[in-house]
Amino acid sequence: MTRHATTPIPGQKPGTSGLRKKTPVFSAPGYLENFVQATFDALGGVTGKTLVLGGDGRYFGDTATQIILKMAAANGAARVIVGQGAWLSTPAASHLIRLRGADGGLILSASHNPGGPEEDFGVKYNMGNGGPAPEAVTEAIYARTQVIDFYLKLEAPDVDLGALGDQHLGDMVVEVVDPVADYADLMETLFDFPALKAMFAGGFRMRMDSMNAITGPYAVEILEKRLGAAPGTVVHATPLPDFGGMHPDPNPTWAHELMAEMMGANAPDFGAASDGDGDRNMILGAGCYVSPSDSLAVLAANAHLAPGYAGGLKGVARSMPTSAAVDRVAAAMGIEAHETPTGWKFFGNLLDAGRCTICGEESFGTGSDHVREKDGLWAVLLWLNILAATGKSVAELLADHWATYGRNYYSRHDYDALPVDQANALMGDLRARLGDLPGAEVNGMTIRAADDFAYHDPIDASVSKSQGLRIIFADDSRIVLRLSGTGTEGATLRVYLERYVAGPEGLAEDPQQALAPMIAAVEALAGVAARTGRSGPDVIT
Ligand code: G1P
Ligand code: ZN
Repeated sequence: MTRHATTPIPGQKPGTSGLRKKTPVFSAPGYLENFVQATFDALGGVTGKTLVLGGDGRYFGDTATQIILKMAAANGAARVIVGQGAWLSTPAASHLIRLRGADGGLILSASHNPGGPEEDFGVKYNMGNGGPAPEAVTEAIYARTQVIDFYLKLEAPDVDLGALGDQHLGDMVVEVVDPVADYADLMETLFDFPALKAMFAGGFRMRMDSMNAITGPYAVEILEKRLGAAPGTVVHATPLPDFGGMHPDPNPTWAHELMAEMMGANAPDFGAASDGDGDRNMILGAGCYVSPSDSLAVLAANAHLAPGYAGGLKGVARSMPTSAAVDRVAAAMGIEAHETPTGWKFFGNLLDAGRCTICGEESFGTGSDHVREKDGLWAVLLWLNILAATGKSVAELLADHWATYGRNYYSRHDYDALPVDQANALMGDLRARLGDLPGAEVNGMTIRAADDFAYHDPIDASVSKSQGLRIIFADDSRIVLRLSGTGTEGATLRVYLERYVAGPEGLAEDPQQALAPMIAAVEALAGVAARTGRSGPDVIT
């Protein structure tokens, strides 16, 4: 029997990055099946199509892969290319879709959220360009989940996901591929591998924390095997179903082992971490943390030093809450700078249209037009290439950058697992007052503008409303408030803080101190502490 009757399951609405739920929810009978069938249906079916499939190795990923393969076969797909062991990092999946000219792909991951029987799981559909499905498609998927009445699934034994090569599932070919090789080859075309090899051979020391997640095999192959970094450069290198209990989010809070090493005595020259599915990155130097917004700006300013970008950049793009540091680089270069809503899917049109080469988000995401996802190891390699080409340390590069462009002090404060009603009320009340705020004074600072950010896509003219509340002060300092679209527990309030200092004085302050006036303004305007009863944020990045 391949046709299974089902009924709609509420709440299958994809968020910022696919559908994410607690694993017990996703693994309940019919849950994954409903969502995958709704996805296939929303795409107009998958008959005769080629799909890419893989994930970050988290719990339930292997079982989900078998289910999806059998559903793809029953739905008439011609071929599914799947990473060995059901592994594919998100950027590698994006590359594979493009390389093989596939119609699309399914990525099984909840990104930086913890994994395990009681933790998180997720499914995301990517299009033929290798990028996340745009809102029109995710909305069509959601609409379909609300009326679905059957799904198709072949009755067949499991596929051997350990064996490379072609196998058959009904009439469909399952092609199991090395998850790392094609991606590593792509990196070799973009960066000066001989120069990086020479740098490592000369004693350059690096620590890469893969957080027991998917970048382990990629980082070992590229850094240790192809570039000759010392064995053991990559730590937590084996993807584990529960990430060994780690929270695979590369930020100072969750990558604290790496932070301690990089801030300690005898620190390596360079440190990096990546997340569950390998699209995020955190960059560190000896005794030095690089905020993601600064990382994006430094990469944009210096990308031409890497062979893949020697011709210069077509433009840059950043998500609205990301600091404007990269805009200053673009202005100096005379190239376009775009401001999009949060979420990588909004960069896709700009990249496809050749309107930007490098893009990034404050949430530890940077990437370029080489794929259609953010790419953690790509950022690591571009930093390494810049270090090799300039001979400077991370701290020197940052100081030089600020001296040239000024510094956008930046921080994000997250309040996790708030009661949903409380978070909605906080946002709703502030939204209602936005119109009255321009011209008002808060703690001696004048508000210049306030709005609920809406994005007008310059390529397809689509409009995305309600993408975050912005309050901008007379000196361009700003605060932004928005609710997370990736959380799986209550509501997560994100407060983004930014203040620009032109220099040459005042470029080396502690960010939290430099941002104290903005932090106080948030309290005065939105009453976060007063309303939530929290004494401070749960995570500061
Ligand atoms: C978060 C980040 C966002 C990123 C997304 C997926 O989304 O803020 O920049 O694109 O994860 O990695 P949020 O939870 O804020 O909706
Ligand atoms: Zn991720």
